[in-house]
This record gives sequence, structure tokens and C-alpha cells, in this order.
Amino acid sequence: MTKRSLPRWSELRPLLQMQPVPLDPVERRLARCHTVADLREAARRRVPRAVFDFVDGAAEGEVSLARSRAAFDRVEFAPAALAGFDEVSTSTTILGTPSALPLVLAPTGFTRLSHHDGEAAVAAAAAEAGIPYALTTMSTVSIEDVAAASGDGTRWFQLYLMRDRGLTRELVRRAKDAGYRALVVTVDTPVVGQRVRDLHNGLTIPPTLTPRTLLDISRRPQWWANLLTTEPLEFATLQAGEPEAHSALIDRLFDPAVTVDDFAPLREWWDGPIVVKGIQSVADARRAVEELGAEALVVSNHGGRQLDRAPTPLELLPRVAEAVGDRTEVLIDSGVRTGADLAAVVALGARAALVGRPYLYGLMAGGRRGVAKTIAVYEAELRRTLHLLGVPGVDALDGSHALLRAA
Ligand SMILES: Cc1cc2nc3c(=O)[nH]c(=O)nc-3n(C[C@H](O)[C@H](O)[C@H](O)COP(=O)(O)O)c2cc1C
Repeated sequence: MTKRSLPRWSELRPLLQMQPVPLDPVERRLARCHTVADLREAARRRVPRAVFDFVDGAAEGEVSLARSRAAFDRVEFAPAALAGFDEVSTSTTILGTPSALPLVLAPTGFTRLSHHDGEAAVAAAAAEAGIPYALTTMSTVSIEDVAAASGDGTRWFQLYLMRDRGLTRELVRRAKDAGYRALVVTVDTPVVGQRVRDLHNGLTIPPTLTPRTLLDISRRPQWWANLLTTEPLEFATLQAGEPEAHSALIDRLFDPAVTVDDFAPLREWWDGPIVVKGIQSVADARRAVEELGAEALVVSNHGGRQLDRAPTPLELLPRVAEAVGDRTEVLIDSGVRTGADLAAVVALGARAALVGRPYLYGLMAGGRRGVAKTIAVYEAELRRTLHLLGVPGVDALDGSHALLRAA
């Protein structure tokens, strides 16, 4: 028979949760987020449905996105026991510049839709964490203001080649003058993928006031108050006109018929490294290196937002790394959601991964501090994974540490 007695205060006291709850609502919200999935849920509760869907959604049936994410479940790590490391190092170099993590914040258009501080908040958080940030052509804060927010941080500029080559050249010049280190040329967007969620939500850029949005204001008053009381939400680099669907704007401005020859002038305008983003085959990886002389490439299906049922970047990565990894830096994106995913992609041949939605979830959940929280989540998870793998640092990861199980 178990003997029972009432607990004494001296026994109970150490069990009491005496952690102070943060008074600041943003801190409180972020303190409850331990994973990117948690940040996604926090984001969902903060912003209008159309805004969340614009970020979270993908093209057509969203098959590319689901497959890109699911592929990470097939990673199998090979840990070494008794490795004897007290400390592990998460840092690496990307394009010759030190980075605190094998992580780059990807270019994402129209960031002020997620939070009124937009790209400036993202740039500041990336700089503070010591990782690169790639500003998009479709930015809602100017190239120069983002540079000021990023200070000494590593910043890259993502370029879409536009029908108006004069404007394209001007953007490259401004990026160069403002201290952007690399030019990321995106090659997977001859036209914009069909984002069905945006169509259903009637999303326009900038958002318009319809009976539906007016209803939404009652549900997300703070987001709308921020939208209506801060700088008008518009493209900082491009001339936009009347509110219109995002895809219509892009199709109007971007050149759908870009070829290898269009890169020649870029080399005249830009003397830094060029990163080709949106590589989806080994053949194109070879062309990017041999014909364009790319200093790095990003194996990417644009987070599933362009061609649906496109190749899955994680599955393509080992073959691309094998084909061109000795001549260029191979980066990857689409579906990287944990620090363990970062370890996996490096083991499978990437120098680093880009993430898009994850930091936008953080931004929606808590502005700049939310982006910082996203990066901190990746950092903690990566550090723990390296320890558990028995690997002293990111740069020691190789093919012996992870494999991709058959589908
Ligand atoms: C809201 C949003 C906007 C994006 N805008 C751009 C863009 O302007 N230029 C670009 O090259 N890629 C853009 N991307 C793609 C990202 O750079 C990146 O390839 C993708 O988000 C990676 O997948 P992940 O979101 O699963 O991490 C965008 C992605 C999102 C989610």
C-alpha cells in the first residue's frame, strides 16, 4: 500500500513556476514560439487571411511546396558517438564572407504587407545575427534605406531582368553604390505562377478596401491601423500604378524572354559575385557555371510558387553538388524549416540554405524581433543537431553524416 501525506510548502516551492511572464505583448507572443511551425501559427493569428495566404501559399495545387517540405522527412542522419566536443561551431563562409550560420534570408517581394517595418526590419535582424539578407527587386523599402538598416551587415540584391533595361541597369547601379555584395539573378520567373489562394482572396497590391476587407479590419484592427497610418504601401523601386493583382504587375514589368545573352551586360554593370537563383536541373546548373560564370547558384523551385510539380530541390541537390560543386558554391531553398534541415543540406552538398516564409512568419508575429527569433530558432536547432551528430562544426559536415532515404 503506497503511503501518502500532504505536501509541505518547502517541497512545493521549488516546483512553482516563478518565471516572470513578459509584460510586452510581442515578447510574450515570441516567448511561446519554439519552432518555425509555432511562428507560423502566431503569424496566422496576427494578420489578415489574404496576407497570411500570400506568404504561406504556393502555385496551383501546391504540390511542389508539399513535396519540397516532405523530402526533408526522408533525411537520415548518421551520428558518431563519443565524439568528445565541448563546443560546436555554427559558422561558415558564404561567397567568401563569414556568416554566423549556413543561412541566408531569401528575397521576398512586398515585405511591408507582412509588417509595416518591412525589409528594413528584416535587414536589421539579419545584420545583427551576422547572416546575409537578399533584398528583392519587388521591395517596399528603398535599396538605400535597407542598406542603412543593415549597416555593416552582408546584403545581396536580387534582380529580375525587366523589359525596361534602363531601369534594370539603374537598380544594379543603386545596389552597387549602396554596398550590396552579391547580385542574385532569379531565372525561374518568366511569368508568375498561378497562386490560387491570392485569386480566391482577391488580393491586390496595394490592398483595396472592399466590403470583405472592411470586415477583416474588425478582426485584425492593429494590422490595418499600421497599414493606414504608416508610409503608403507601394513598391520602392518600381513604378506601380493603380492597385492590381501581383501577378499582373510582374507580368507587365518583367521580361519573359530572358536568355543567357542577357547576362553579358550584367557583367559590365556589376563587378561582384553573381548568384543564379532558380536552378532546377543538373543541365542548367552546368550552364549557369559554364556559360554565365555564376559564382553561386541556388537550387530552388521558388518555394513552390512558380512551376507546380517542379523538381524537389533537396532531391536535386546531391547531383548538382556532384556536377558543379567544385567550381561554384551551391545553395538551396524551398521548405527548409529547421536547424536540422540546415545540417542536412550542408551534409548533402550545399554551402548554405535560403529561407523565405519562415522569417516572414517571424516578421508577422513580431516585427524585427520576430525575425530575430526565427534566426535564433535555426541557430539553436543547428547547434543541438551538430552536438547530437558528433560533428565539431558546420564546415565538418559531409556526405557521411546524412543520406536521403528512398521515397
Ligand atoms: C512572399 C514571398 C515573396 C517572394 N518574392 C520573391 C522575389 O521577389 N524574388 C525572388 O527571387 N524570390 C521570391 N520568393 C521566393 C524566395 O526567395 C524563396 O525562393 C522561397 O521563399 C524559398 O522557400 P521557403 O519559403 O519554403 O523557404 C518569394 C517567396 C515568398 C514566400
